[in-house]
Amino acid sequence: MALDILIGLQWGDEGKGKVVDYFASGYHFVARFQGGPNAGHTIYVNNEKLVLHQVPSGVLHPDCQCVIGNAVVLDPLTLAAEFQALKAHGIMPEDKLVISSRCHLILPTHRLLDKALESNGVQRKIGSTLRGIGPAYQDKYGRQGLRAGDIFSADFDTRLQTLATQHQKRLVTLGYDYSQAEILPENWLQSLELLRTLAIKNTELLLLDAHRRGAAILAEGAQGTLLDVEFGQYPYVTSSHTTAAGACIGLGLPPASVRKVIGIFKAYCTRVGEGPFPTELTDKAGEMLRERGGEFGATTGRPRRCGWLDLPALRFACQINGTTELVMTKADVLAGLPSVQLCTAYQTTANESFYIDSGIPIYQTFNGWKNTDLAAPLDDSLTAYITAIEQQLAHTINFVSLGAARDQIIARNI
Ligand code: IMP
Repeated sequence: MALDILIGLQWGDEGKGKVVDYFASGYHFVARFQGGPNAGHTIYVNNEKLVLHQVPSGVLHPDCQCVIGNAVVLDPLTLAAEFQALKAHGIMPEDKLVISSRCHLILPTHRLLDKALESNGVQRKIGSTLRGIGPAYQDKYGRQGLRAGDIFSADFDTRLQTLATQHQKRLVTLGYDYSQAEILPENWLQSLELLRTLAIKNTELLLLDAHRRGAAILAEGAQGTLLDVEFGQYPYVTSSHTTAAGACIGLGLPPASVRKVIGIFKAYCTRVGEGPFPTELTDKAGEMLRERGGEFGATTGRPRRCGWLDLPALRFACQINGTTELVMTKADVLAGLPSVQLCTAYQTTANESFYIDSGIPIYQTFNGWKNTDLAAPLDDSLTAYITAIEQQLAHTINFVSLGAARDQIIARNI
């Protein structure tokens, strides 16, 4: 078998949680490979909504093992809260979860630094989720971070105090003076105890061995391609590699093991936080999309900026990820509109319509479609919209999702 990678093709919030949950029964492993609790992957357990931040979205499936891979940054306190929520739904995540010993830990001071850096007026405001992601990756690449495997070492407490004190000093230079109790609060220290009871291992060896034995592995991306630290709209990006290539680094599996790259995009666009968004609707139409689509951050509750689907950006995302399959989500949100717009190119002087953020959008207008009955053929207007996207991307859309529930998805052309 092989490694399949599932990634977001826009600015995150494409509906990855639902789609991973839909596919997970066909995999032995579902593994997160980057990001951390900035992610909010929504799944439904017995019709009840559950938002996962670090636990992979395959957790509902009895035969699927979940892995938090090496390039994830892990907040033990958020993990403890996720465990509680899962247990309240009768799911025992400790039986299914393996965590890489290489995962870097998010300290409470990373969150405080995130807040301080976003509001000090010197650094450009990114609109971060304030979950400590950027500062934790800074420590990783600065080679001073603490990793999940370190919690078992005899000098862990000393190293933790040293790092937190160093952060405390930096916070003072940024104009924030936090007490010792605030920099290492009791509830965070207690959450380390939970972590000590979990399976923390060399997950790259586990996955390599599973791969050799023929296991099917699904790599679950977080955020989206346009937030990639390398290929997103820097500096309005997250601090990890959200693109398909990140899965190999983030799990320790070789590129040759990749079989499919499944890209997920919404039938329109949303973005949380700052940064360019050429097709953004800042008027009533944008508000209407937000309300209809429930476009409020799953992690922060912030209202998402909304706009029409941006094909030049989507084309770039397909190319940079080498997508082999596409899933379009939330087509139902646009149902009932009199018309729908699709940005097919930008008005530029140069021949730059390949890339994002490079001019004024040029739109093609489509008739709106009716609410779709899953058992009936797709409405002609929705089919026309899908066909136009397929033709312009020269790429098949294999699945169309028409609602939040696991079974509200249809397979096409396969
Ligand atoms: P950070 O990763 O929390 O530092 O946030 C950096 C940027 O990425 C901000 O614009 C966030 O709104 C955005 N972002 C981070 N995680 C997500 C996500 O899971 N969905 C959508 N946007 C995200």
